[in-house]
Amino acid sequence: MERISILGFILAILYFITTELACSGHTHIGNNVQSEQNALIDFKSGLKDPNNRLSSWKGSNYCYWQGISCKNGTRFVISIDLHNPYPRENVYEDWSSMNLSGEICPSLIKLKSLKYLDLSFNSFKAMPIPQFFGSLKNLIYLNLSSAGFSGTIPSNLGNLSHLQYLDLSSKYPKYVDFEYSNDLFVQNIEWMIGLVSLKYLGMNYVNLSLVGSQWVEVLNELPILSELHLDGCSLFGSYPSPSFVNFTSLAVIAISSNHFNSKFPDWLLNVRNLVSINISLSQLHGRIPLGLGELPNLQYLDLSWNLNLKGSISQLLRKSWKKIEVLELEKDRSSRVGRK
Ligand SMILES: *[C@@H]1O[C@H](CO)[C@@H](O)[C@H](O)[C@H]1NC(C)=O
Ligand SMILES: *[C@@H]1O[C@H](CO)[C@@H](O)[C@H](O)[C@H]1NC(C)=O
Ligand SMILES: *[C@@H]1O[C@H](CO)[C@@H](O)[C@H](O)[C@H]1NC(C)=O
Ligand SMILES: *[C@@H]1O[C@H](CO)[C@@H](O)[C@H](O)[C@H]1NC(C)=O
Ligand SMILES: *[C@@H]1O[C@H](CO)[C@@H](O)[C@H](O)[C@H]1NC(C)=O
Ligand SMILES: *[C@@H]1O[C@H](CO)[C@@H](O)[C@H](O)[C@H]1NC(C)=O
Ligand SMILES: *[C@@H]1O[C@H](CO)[C@@H](O)[C@H](O)[C@H]1NC(C)=O
Repeated sequence: MERISILGFILAILYFITTELACSGHTHIGNNVQSEQNALIDFKSGLKDPNNRLSSWKGSNYCYWQGISCKNGTRFVISIDLHNPYPRENVYEDWSSMNLSGEICPSLIKLKSLKYLDLSFNSFKAMPIPQFFGSLKNLIYLNLSSAGFSGTIPSNLGNLSHLQYLDLSSKYPKYVDFEYSNDLFVQNIEWMIGLVSLKYLGMNYVNLSLVGSQWVEVLNELPILSELHLDGCSLFGSYPSPSFVNFTSLAVIAISSNHFNSKFPDWLLNVRNLVSINISLSQLHGRIPLGLGELPNLQYLDLSWNLNLKGSISQLLRKSWKKIEVLELEKDRSSRVGRK
């Protein structure tokens, strides 16, 4: 055990050193403008950019470089949006030539006003998510979805107390599409309690099997979480009933393709703002609770492909359900009940 952690430590140091060398390491003297520009140049120098997406990244007008936005009326960088613009389904050729890879320089820490960082759908193959992202303390939006990162999600991200959107999802499970899939996992999620401003959490196909059922209690503490996507996260076991259900803002919960092997999670019946519940293909069994028919805002309910789940649609529809639009309950997706 100890040997492993020493090895891990050495690897971390090596990683840090190689990252520092890959980035050109400007000495940042002079005014803020120079420092913002140098930070971006260092960041670029670490990246591999075969299609020259960053060809505009030269000269001093960095607020107009591709993917960069500055705060209105200032030269402080607030946004770096380098998501791959070509979804792979449409144009494979373009997609693969547009992917960025390489190293991500810690120089980004110098961008004190940075609020949006989007590196989604790139190819940072097998690289861990940089720990220093947890030091970008003004971030409100971080999108690393399908960007090729792998390994443990660093707990440092829990320092991002302004973060509202965190997307670490991959679009497909590993066996469907290797290039776009995550090899990310989480060992414990207590650090997420620090994400007090979080509204949107996307972690589809991140391996949460080591977290057990703790995710419910931890996420229950996030005061304004409204959208939760945990499809295919290898979640299993019965849900604990949070002793006090907060989730006051939760509107969307999508936790399909897990292995719960449990009854329907009754605590969801106390989450009055729910608009959409999707727990398809997750080995739920027992009865569909009639209480679902009393959720005042529910529009989408998908419990399909849970082979041992039973319930009465007519009884459900007899409840005060005003807004339900899509109801998928069958073992076979093709049968659908719609109501306006
Ligand atoms: C930024 O400045 C422009 C021109 O001064 C103005 O039209 C625009 O509304 C401002 N945008 C924001 C987000 O303040
Ligand atoms: C872009 O992605 C494709 C598919 O994963 C890969 O073959 C190619 O090497 C990548 N390009 C770079 C520069 O990483
Ligand atoms: C993250 O990026 C992907 C791909 O660019 C996009 O589809 C997704 O909506 C983004 N997530 C959020 C929360 O904006
Ligand atoms: C960020 O989080 C890590 C791990 O949770 C912690 O050890 C560290 O002290 C934090 N750093 C700051 C600047 O808050
Ligand atoms: C998730 O991690 C567990 C434990 O490390 C492993 O046994 C399992 O195969 C992983 N699941 C997937 C889908 O990769
Ligand atoms: C519920 O939310 C309140 C206010 O955000 C918080 O103080 C409390 O600790 C939360 N309770 C639980 C069990 O998470
Ligand atoms: C529920 O999730 C599954 C898997 O992600 C998806 O295929 C299905 O369309 C979703 N159902 C609804 C009603 O959105």
